[in-house]
Amino acid sequence: MNEHPHITDADLEIQPLERSETIPSAWYTDPAFRDFDKHSIFNHAWHNIGHISRLMNAGNYIIGTAAGNPVLVVRGQDETLRAFYNVCRHRGGPLAMEDGCGKVLQCKYHGWTYLLDGSLRGTPKFDRTELFDKKDYGLIPVALDVWEGLVFVNVDVNAPPVSDFFKGIADRIAPISLSKKKFYKRVTYNVHCNWKVYVDNYLEGYHLPFVHPELCNLLDFQQYVTETYDWYSFQYSPIQQEQNIYGDAGEMAYYYFVWPNFMLNILPDRLQTNLVLPDGHDKCIVLFDYYYDEIESEAARRRAEADIEYSHKIQMEDIEICEHVQNGLQSNAYDKGRFSVEFENAVHHFQSLVKRAYRKALTGR
Ligand code: FES
Ligand SMILES: [Fe+2]
Repeated sequence: MNEHPHITDADLEIQPLERSETIPSAWYTDPAFRDFDKHSIFNHAWHNIGHISRLMNAGNYIIGTAAGNPVLVVRGQDETLRAFYNVCRHRGGPLAMEDGCGKVLQCKYHGWTYLLDGSLRGTPKFDRTELFDKKDYGLIPVALDVWEGLVFVNVDVNAPPVSDFFKGIADRIAPISLSKKKFYKRVTYNVHCNWKVYVDNYLEGYHLPFVHPELCNLLDFQQYVTETYDWYSFQYSPIQQEQNIYGDAGEMAYYYFVWPNFMLNILPDRLQTNLVLPDGHDKCIVLFDYYYDEIESEAARRRAEADIEYSHKIQMEDIEICEHVQNGLQSNAYDKGRFSVEFENAVHHFQSLVKRAYRKALTGR
């Protein structure tokens, strides 16, 4: 672990929304926060890797990252789901470079093979190595949990269960069930801003009239509501326009942000998840996974593509403004700002969780 960045006690103090300042610009722009965010936040967070619908059969595996570590989740011959670092114990090669299915996991570097329970089985041309016992070189496990069909891993094996973080969401969105959704497609975006800039932006509807004027016609901006809970915040608004691609007028659009970097965008028959992965201190990668109730028919696929195209347009508007904001935060002009009490309570909530995580890393409480 590198030196901690310089953080004052005053900066860690959590003030009520009405009186609070935003977090200092250095927290978005100083390269030292890259390691500090990993240490204080991501090493203890649940990371969504995908959906259970892609792990239905023995041998199915999907890959992803957790706090920057390559990981994989695999369904064993015994039907049990397990999660491991996607890192070979020989010299660090990958077991999988894409999602797949197999009877064993074979390293892509020199071909060591592991059973689906992680135990090392085959080590070609390795008989002359002394004091070597395969039992000592199994894959290293990471914590695994499933919530409503979404599969999560955590490199902190003592983390509280994932359901603690999502408490209340399944009841609130019922009768919509996320576990029944089918995975359709992933779209990947590279964004030139710190991951917290992207999350801040997601958490408020204040920018809608300026950044996404068309979205304002679709949603009822006057009835836009934001609520905050322990580990997540919730924005919703009734769908206004008749028969648009998002659903029928009067139905609800639900936007959940779950600490620290995961979003659930739920419409009557679709789920879109966003995962925000830091990529250095001033860049992030955002993964959009699209799920629908139905993906087989030609009509369903056309509808999905129209949905994805529309989301892409909104996302490009968000990316453009976030990249400008990163430049603004890096400028001489800016250190801290203030919050709209009406619209930015979820940004304040997120920034308070950041402060709590930093405080815990620095002081142990
Ligand atoms: S690194 Fe995996 S077999 Fe060599
Ligand atoms: Fe936006």
